Amino acid sequence: MVLHRNPLLFLLVFGISICFARYCVHNEKSWCRGHNIWGWCFHNKSSGVFNCDDDSFCVSQEQLKNKKSSGCFARDNSSVCCCNDADGCNLGFIGVPPKYAHGQQCVNSMEVPNEDPRLFRPCDDPYCYSLLTAEEDGGPTTVTRGCHSRKMVMHFMSKNEDDQFQNNTKWRETKRMAEMPSCSEILKDQPKANGTRSLCIDYTFDQDPEEGEDAAEEPIRMKGRLCCCDGTNKCNEQAMWADEGISLDELKEEIEKRKVAVGGVPNYDGFLVSTLLVFVAMAF
Ligand SMILES: *[C@@H]1O[C@H](CO)[C@@H](O)[C@H](O)[C@H]1NC(C)=O
Ligand SMILES: *[C@@H]1O[C@H](CO)[C@@H](O)[C@H](O)[C@H]1NC(C)=O
Ligand SMILES: *[C@@H]1O[C@H](CO)[C@@H](O)[C@H](O)[C@H]1NC(C)=O
Ligand SMILES: *[C@@H]1O[C@H](CO)[C@@H](O)[C@H](O)[C@H]1NC(C)=O
Repeated sequence: MVLHRNPLLFLLVFGISICFARYCVHNEKSWCRGHNIWGWCFHNKSSGVFNCDDDSFCVSQEQLKNKKSSGCFARDNSSVCCCNDADGCNLGFIGVPPKYAHGQQCVNSMEVPNEDPRLFRPCDDPYCYSLLTAEEDGGPTTVTRGCHSRKMVMHFMSKNEDDQFQNNTKWRETKRMAEMPSCSEILKDQPKANGTRSLCIDYTFDQDPEEGEDAAEEPIRMKGRLCCCDGTNKCNEQAMWADEGISLDELKEEIEKRKVAVGGVPNYDGFLVSTLLVFVAMAF
């Protein structure tokens, strides 16, 4: 290892890789971060895979070498796409032919009590979401609907910028959603009904004290409901409190069971983080 003997070089490499990271949509983890300047976002329109070119398909295409590019190839009856021209750019392939082979158009809106509802341009995503929040013992509901993976890419980009430059607090709005299991986990065992899979997850939380408010005051107990769906356009248009849902604890139990079922593979992300920590420790 050359790097750990030279902390400056290590920091330089590490710093550059953060600055030039390419964020992409990931069909299982919601988002991912490519690791170099020419990092690619990948989408296979036949299998529905979205990722950070995990199998090095794009990076090994001779005609894409050292280019900023975006486009799809026909390979053995399947259509596979690569781009590196913008963060989250593999979302753009959902709407190109064959259109909506995987992913769909989501309703993109915001309803806040005592404000006019806001309807934004629909967006394309592998998963649509609705998020309902209200005080636990009732009262008006705030509803946001939109594109789940896109939201997560934006969350982590903003968080990373804030960690580096302390100048972007946008991620705080989506903090709670980012801590929830991914839509892929939420929908994994859901059957299709009329072409749509959907499920709502219920949880409770304490409202963060507003800026300038007395933090010692009793926090307000809130209830939240995150619904994910896929399969048909605007599948996130409805979703209210009365629909069927399961609790976050039930879902977490289910996820644990799935892990055991596949042989209890150790958490790879955890391994990476601890390796990185050891790495940093060695540098100083
Ligand atoms: C794309 O998906 C199809 C269908 O699952 C698969 O046969 C093909 O190998 C995949 N292509 C790439 C480049 O991953
Ligand atoms: C491509 O599709 C055609 C017609 O559907 C089929 O005959 C052929 O075997 C397929 N080729 C591959 C490599 O899957
Ligand atoms: C935060 O600071 C960085 C570096 O100065 C800059 O590139 C970026 O645009 C800033 N972001 C916001 C949201 O102001
Ligand atoms: C499926 O669609 C049919 C006809 O539109 C409707 O009657 C039925 O209730 C739907 N089923 C589900 C589970 O949404």
